[in-house]
Amino acid sequence: MAGEPTTDEIARAVAVLRAGGLVAFPTETVYGLGADASNPDAISKVFAAKGRPHDHPLIVHIADVGQLSAWARDIPPAALALAKKFWPGPLTLILKRAPAVNTRVTGGQDTIALRVPAHPVAQALLRAFGGGVAGPSANRFGHVSATTAEHVRDEFGAAVDCVLDGGACAVGIESTIVDLSNPQPALLRPGCISAAQIEDALGMPLAAPGAQSPRAPGTLARHYAPRTPVMLVEADVIDELARSFARMGKRVAVLARNARQPMLGGLAWIAAPDAPAGYAHDLYANLRQLDTAGCDVMLVEAPPADAAWTAVRDRLARAAAGASAA
Ligand code: TXA
Ligand code: MG
Repeated sequence: MAGEPTTDEIARAVAVLRAGGLVAFPTETVYGLGADASNPDAISKVFAAKGRPHDHPLIVHIADVGQLSAWARDIPPAALALAKKFWPGPLTLILKRAPAVNTRVTGGQDTIALRVPAHPVAQALLRAFGGGVAGPSANRFGHVSATTAEHVRDEFGAAVDCVLDGGACAVGIESTIVDLSNPQPALLRPGCISAAQIEDALGMPLAAPGAQSPRAPGTLARHYAPRTPVMLVEADVIDELARSFARMGKRVAVLARNARQPMLGGLAWIAAPDAPAGYAHDLYANLRQLDTAGCDVMLVEAPPADAAWTAVRDRLARAAAGASAA
């Protein structure tokens, strides 16, 4: 692992942002593809590099809660309560956007996504830059998110002007997103901060996204997907399914949660950690590694049904959506 970026490297990254360029940066969740959130041309570069449709809004990262009012209006007390409890950290708040905010960054919506990340490198970058940094996950549209600097380089090559290496991301999956632009708060994307923790801090229940919730187009059915078609399967049928694919001459990759690997030629097998935090930490790296094996199908052991696995289940369901096996 590379050492933490030096003050000089942060200063170079800030210069790139000021010049309207792209800086990939580590956060505690996943790497972000950063651009000056106040510069419409820089925002356009983010959409172009990701291959992301222009109506998919970006998260704006800020250094601390003190910057909130520069980006949001009508900030409800609930937002300040969640910010106090979980920022800096893996939580994104959807609020009404401040009038001056460029609508390119909000995908034309009247709301804005804001987050104060905890990673020391993200913090150093945001403090030195001073403004907001628009930062979607640093992956091409619909593909697996990046949790190391190397994965960012694999995704973008020279399309990114600067990659700050802060090592592997501690959480490994994207932030929890809570909409506070409507009277009843709603969970738009599950993450490592659970719905129960949010409800506890709010003192009221969260709604499921409703008709009046802002669109979160990034929560498309198919997302976080490796190139190899993914099938979610129960643990007790993995072996049998792997064998039947092998009999059909197909090469099989398996993401399991135990090390009991069937004796099959050409099988790419990873035994992922058995607890949800460890599983989430390794998830995207595991999907990427299995994707490099050149298999015809990827069998992923379905995670348990309990609440601790909600965010992982969400990502895997999307990774598998729309894939037709082999
Ligand atoms: O952990 C994270 O949140 C990472 C790191 C880099 O901060 N970022 C991230 O960004 O996951 P992205 O762009 O890949 O996902 C942001 C999600 C998308 O589903 C997007 O549709 C939603 O946030 N979003 C952004 N602005 C929104 C808005 N104004 N209203 C509703 N959803 C919004
Ligand atoms: Mg993303």
